[in-house]
Amino acid sequence: MIQLISASKTYPGGHRALVEVDLLVETGTTLALLGTSGCGKTTTLRLINRLIEPTSGEIRVDGRDVREVDPIELRRGIGYVVQEAGLFPHMTAAENAETVPKLLGWSAEQRRQRSAELFALVGLDFPVHGDRYPSQLSGGQRQRVGLARALAADPPIVLMDEPFGALDAITRRQLQAQFQELKARLGKTVVLVTHDVDEAFRLADRIAVLADGRVTQVGSVAELGEAPPDSPIGALLGDRRAS
Ligand SMILES: Nc1ncnc2c1ncn2[C@@H]1O[C@H](COP(=O)(O)OP(=O)(O)OP(=O)(O)O)[C@@H](O)[C@H]1O
Ligand SMILES: [Mg+2]
Repeated sequence: MIQLISASKTYPGGHRALVEVDLLVETGTTLALLGTSGCGKTTTLRLINRLIEPTSGEIRVDGRDVREVDPIELRRGIGYVVQEAGLFPHMTAAENAETVPKLLGWSAEQRRQRSAELFALVGLDFPVHGDRYPSQLSGGQRQRVGLARALAADPPIVLMDEPFGALDAITRRQLQAQFQELKARLGKTVVLVTHDVDEAFRLADRIAVLADGRVTQVGSVAELGEAPPDSPIGALLGDRRAS
């Protein structure tokens, strides 16, 4: 379970990226974070895995204040799909995917086997793409390596920052379907950042709408699907309902 309790983040320079945010993600469920550029979505994810710390308020993972947990231990249990893939440029695709298994001390053979599995899972050809550097991959391929890296050590929590953003519609649908199956099978707790309202409704159990660093609406997919047009989600749904 992930909890943000009145969490605020003011960056150096004074920008208030998050203001008293309360969020709850139950174990085994997916929360989608929706909102326009700059509203604080990435900031929210980075608070959860403690890449940054809140200015005030609290973040709890499985009941423990993340500030009381060793950050390395915390991040072992939390996969992170970084926005725009965020791969290490000096490492091959396979080495990128094996980052956490390597930290955990798996043997070279175990790691190789796991990355081959992961490549198959995300629809990449291991013999073709495994030894390429990120600059030798397309944007969509890089994103899939980023997804493989986040899933490598089978963490119970996965934070995904626009994981399917750079993919064509067909590949996107395929990966979304794989993700859904995985989620159902492995019972992961997921926070998914997306700009895509359809994606949020397809993949999430609950949706939170952020605007200017504040949660303006939160509810189950069923509740928000019925939301009035003048509500925050209604405004985002406007185009979809009209088409
Ligand atoms: N390190 C930083 N220092 C100062 N301001 C920052 C920093 N990181 C983010 N911000 C600001 O905080 C706000 C929220 O940023 P954040 O990255 O969380 O947005 P986002 O919702 O993920 O946007 P996008 O959809 O464009 O990725 C933005 O106005 C951004 O400029
Ligand atoms: Mg972002």
